Amino acid sequence: MAELAPSILSADFGRAAEAIALCRETGLRYVHLDVMDGRFVPEITFGSKMTADLRAAAGGMEMIAHLMVAEPERQVNSFCEAGADYVEVHVEATAHAHRAVQAARGAGKKGGIALNPQTPVAAVEPILGDIDILLLMSVNPGWGGQSFIEPVYAKIGNARRTIDDAGLSGKCLLEVDGGVKPENAARVAEAGADIVVAGSAVFGTADPRAAIEELKGLIQ
Ligand code: DX5
Ligand code: ZN
Repeated sequence: MAELAPSILSADFGRAAEAIALCRETGLRYVHLDVMDGRFVPEITFGSKMTADLRAAAGGMEMIAHLMVAEPERQVNSFCEAGADYVEVHVEATAHAHRAVQAARGAGKKGGIALNPQTPVAAVEPILGDIDILLLMSVNPGWGGQSFIEPVYAKIGNARRTIDDAGLSGKCLLEVDGGVKPENAARVAEAGADIVVAGSAVFGTADPRAAIEELKGLIQ
């Protein structure tokens, strides 16, 4: 069904490498890094140096860098050089989202586009064949611990059908990010997500390892 990609946003950043190592030890394929610049979203988290410093802890896991930053095309290369495997830019943050994806691909990495809840899938449909991952935000970006925005379930289905009808299943991955909990994780996967992000539902719990195993059981 779907893969789990924990977000370390809700983890203790002073122990971020341990959080990443835990994800690796539980056999996960992806980890989700939430990069915030204080402009595109109000909060500031971390940048490409933290990403580089976490690369060793990630081991063979693929690091997905979710850039919630203004002018993201200016940041793509530094995150690629830092060791991110996927770099995702928000279509709302740049007039050059396609060029940003091309830059990631040119750096030997994979590029993706993130859509805020109100942005239709149609905004990127013309170029779905040129991107490696489509990220649907199911919360408004900038914080962990929010509630899943209900209309996004239908949006996931629309994106799933659009990707499949274009013959891009497995080529353009569908990632869903925000408000995923044990109560709705299976529904998100059944709606068509390839990758399900969970932040507070993992690192906001007393036992992240158990939370990961529970969520894996619900979506795989
Ligand atoms: C929000 C981030 C999400 C967030 C998910 O701006 O993009 O990845 O960390 O956190 P939860 O799972 O707690 O909603
Ligand atoms: Zn994210």
